[in-house]
Amino acid sequence: MTLQQIKGFSKLSKTEKINWLATEYFQNPEAGKEILTQYQNADEKLQKLHDEFSENSLSNFYLPFGIAPNFNINGKTYAIPMVIEESSVVAAACKAAKFWGDRGGFKTEVIGTEKIGQVHLSFNGSFTELEDFFKVVAPKLHEAIAELQQKMRKRGGGLTGLELRDKTQSLDGYFQVHARFQTADAMGANFINSCLEAFAEVLLFEASQYTHFKTPNPKLEVIMSILSNYVPNCVVRASVCCKISDLKATPNLTKLAYAQKFVQAVQIAKIEPYRAVTHNKGIMNGIDAVVLATGNDFRAIEACVHAYAAKDGTYSSLTHATIHNNEELEFWIEIPLALGTVGGLTSLHPMVKLALEILGNPSASELMEIIAVAGLAQNFGAVDSLITTGIQKGHMKMHLLNILNQFEASKKEKETLIAYFKNHNVSHSAVVNELNKLRS
Ligand code: MEV
Repeated sequence: MTLQQIKGFSKLSKTEKINWLATEYFQNPEAGKEILTQYQNADEKLQKLHDEFSENSLSNFYLPFGIAPNFNINGKTYAIPMVIEESSVVAAACKAAKFWGDRGGFKTEVIGTEKIGQVHLSFNGSFTELEDFFKVVAPKLHEAIAELQQKMRKRGGGLTGLELRDKTQSLDGYFQVHARFQTADAMGANFINSCLEAFAEVLLFEASQYTHFKTPNPKLEVIMSILSNYVPNCVVRASVCCKISDLKATPNLTKLAYAQKFVQAVQIAKIEPYRAVTHNKGIMNGIDAVVLATGNDFRAIEACVHAYAAKDGTYSSLTHATIHNNEELEFWIEIPLALGTVGGLTSLHPMVKLALEILGNPSASELMEIIAVAGLAQNFGAVDSLITTGIQKGHMKMHLLNILNQFEASKKEKETLIAYFKNHNVSHSAVVNELNKLRS
């Protein structure tokens, strides 16, 4: 089948877009249209709000919004909202909250909140002459953003550093203005990008007026001005610690053996990238779920976290574990998180507003702490299962409902099979077999 290209799609009304899509792409156009319509909110105002977040919106895409209560973080109790489709993530968070809640809770510390932006420059002269120019122009760069920063300054943020960097060792003619910012409770992307574009304009204008370049026909070009999502100085630490005697013994492991196996599992993720990626993926199950619920940019968080995990030259674990004097198990995470609790979706999306309210309308720093804890808790749950029962037992129990829903099991069938699988191994084929038995 050759599909038609369409011109001016964005100018069509929503109904026209749906009709076109249904005719061109759906095997059953009416059924497709019904799904797209069904997933729209009946409240027109609410639907319009969502439609306007992005272009060519046709409908909504649901993900479960769940809660993991009873998190003790620095002595304060939180119920953590999580948006995630993967079964067992919220259950694991709840379990870890309970386990560590009974053992002193989670402790956190924000190590830094610095954000970065860069103006990428190309120049056909030397670093020294660009440096001389930069010294002259730097006060004008500050002046250029004075108005832009006024509100941010009142909130305790703003530009904190400007530096010219020579990058010609890696790329001919490449220099940068590396700018450091504090952005208070905002993620700060718009603020930073506006400042950088203002810098770029000043740099170009001042270069055109500057008469002291030594290079004949000097040419300073702005290649691009953009914030960096890599924020290695916007970092939070979350930790748990308990006496080995307070750990749970398992049928096959003494408490000390459990702690040793736990530490070994984390050490494997430190040195083995194949394991580290999966280990960190589990951490991101917890982190992304709260990042999404609170309307933050999960792509930025993901990109940054994985760069940070590779900062020492090999991709490694974001969590760490050690045993102190054969007496205490300490487990912690150190992770960069550039988050906002004002601006962006935070005041627009009703569910995001609600999620922030559930968290007590935290500052960006407090949200960093909560989200780091969600990541640590999730990793604890995963490693705990992996070194004891294995991951499939819990996973498949949670997956049971998905399989039953897939086969449109009735309420009665669900009750019967949930009871049956309390004592039997869940697998896709076992569930289908039992369901078929029931149905025949
Ligand atoms: C599954 O989504 C996440 C885990 O694979 C994480 C891990 O292996 O640590 C269970």
